[in-house]
Amino acid sequence: MISEGQGPSAGRRLSGRIVAATHNVGKLREIQELLGLYRVDAIGAGCLGLNEPEETGFTFSDNAVLKAEAAARAAGEAALADDSGLCVAALGGAPGVHSARWAGEARDFAGAMARIEEELLSAGAPRPWRAHFISALALAWPDGRTDVFEGRVDGELVFPPRGSRGFGYDPIFRPDGHSRTFGEMFAEEKHGLPSDGSLALSHRARAFQKLARRFLQF
Ligand code: IMP
Repeated sequence: MISEGQGPSAGRRLSGRIVAATHNVGKLREIQELLGLYRVDAIGAGCLGLNEPEETGFTFSDNAVLKAEAAARAAGEAALADDSGLCVAALGGAPGVHSARWAGEARDFAGAMARIEEELLSAGAPRPWRAHFISALALAWPDGRTDVFEGRVDGELVFPPRGSRGFGYDPIFRPDGHSRTFGEMFAEEKHGLPSDGSLALSHRARAFQKLARRFLQF
């Protein structure tokens, strides 16, 4: 359910419930945590029996739009999709939009993290190994309009992986200005959403801040 004001996007507000166009439980949890701050519920696409469209885009934004619009069309409700990934500077930005694919069908992130280390070592990449996470959030409205917001966080890769919190590549990513990896942080610390409106920490929370300024209210 969405309450929309008059006119184009400026008057739109999200409230009630939204579809989270993801089958990734780690991502769904983070989207629910972020929207929950504004008392908006997110129901996962999997719970609604929606299919996952193939991610054929070349950019994070392309893929986020593709997923959000497919879910909004199928559900007839507003849908929010995140397309995100880890970009390693010395690997030319890989795994990037292929971050999920590097873990394979079995979602073997230990293997994907080991592959990153192996490729960096065999390339003789000098340390520190710089990397960043990107999140593109696409919000597709039932009337066909879609809004996109991007967030990025920079940091260094650490091996061996540290911490068992979070998901995906969290245990090897240490954001700049912090001594702990995302995998060692509690959820609120990883989001790092300050109450004074200054910059959040994670890529997803940074993209979410932009979305919240436009479409959410306390
Ligand atoms: P996709 O957006 O569904 O294509 O998948 C993105 C993939 O990037 C996830 O499966 C994770 O492997 C990785 N990723 C995205 N965001 C994060 C994060 O916040 N922490 C750790 N890994 C992430």
